[in-house]
Amino acid sequence: MVTGVNETAVADHYTVDGLETLILDALKLSGKLDALSPIDLAPVDEFHMGGRAATQHVIGMMNLPGNAYVLDVGCGLGGVARYLASECGCRAAGIDLTAEYVRVGTMLTERTGLADKVDLQVGSALDLPWPEATFDAAVTFHVAMNIADRPRLYAEVARVLRPEGTFAIYDVLKGPHDGLLFPLPWAETEKTSFLVTAGEMRDLLDNAGFDIIHEEDRREIALKHHRDRLAAQSAAGGPPRLGLHLLQGQTAKVKSHNMVTMLEAHQITLTAIIARRRA
Ligand SMILES: C[S@@+](CC[C@H](N)C(=O)[O-])C[C@H]1O[C@@H](n2cnc3c(N)ncnc32)[C@H](O)[C@@H]1O
Repeated sequence: MVTGVNETAVADHYTVDGLETLILDALKLSGKLDALSPIDLAPVDEFHMGGRAATQHVIGMMNLPGNAYVLDVGCGLGGVARYLASECGCRAAGIDLTAEYVRVGTMLTERTGLADKVDLQVGSALDLPWPEATFDAAVTFHVAMNIADRPRLYAEVARVLRPEGTFAIYDVLKGPHDGLLFPLPWAETEKTSFLVTAGEMRDLLDNAGFDIIHEEDRREIALKHHRDRLAAQSAAGGPPRLGLHLLQGQTAKVKSHNMVTMLEAHQITLTAIIARRRA
């Protein structure tokens, strides 16, 4: 259930009218629509810095067994959940505040033939609709920056994970230098942006009952990925038809520019964490 002013504002921020048509038209023009595979969707359904390469890297560090049941918290269009199913053989459940993402993501799951392995639903990360110890593992990619109540977020993930279950986090953190520029890909203003530092993140996970088994700064890698993408676009004469610009409306360029400027200025950074729920 989506509750509260903040959650409504977050869902409004991400809602794009006509998203299904935008994505299907771009796929059709690229000749991909008739035999769609999950990788074809990666330019638009991996809404985090570093895209598919970051997903491969972070999920790769989890060492998931093929039959694992994995929760994707804040799944967006479901790119990471479909990756877990198609590349790792897992069953995946995704939950997201933004009903339009879940609707379009479910259509994409059906079109890629993964409906028996991936289930996306609308709801809040702060009120997960599963009993305790349901999942073998959980992931969350670029979601928590919208969530003020971090203790409740990580307590909810710990509750639905089995003891010793693995939790992978790929998130934007507050950097050592002050200052935020808006709009950003995740928020129009500071009203729906709630970043924490790396130290605060460690304490939050510890307090929720997680041991961190690996942590790495992904800032440099994400910046390189961004520069490579710009160079490829410039060589190709413009952005590809299918891309994250479809999710970000008129201000897509300025949002992306602000995020990269803040990464370069160390006002934000990116972290990948693999944690384990204590038994
Ligand atoms: C930048 S997108 C990332 C989507 C996806 N994880 C990915 O990497 O492609 C952030 C997503 O977090 C979702 N979100 C933010 N706050 C949430 C909450 N409290 N509960 C569930 N989803 C939330 C948004 O609706 C949005 O789809």
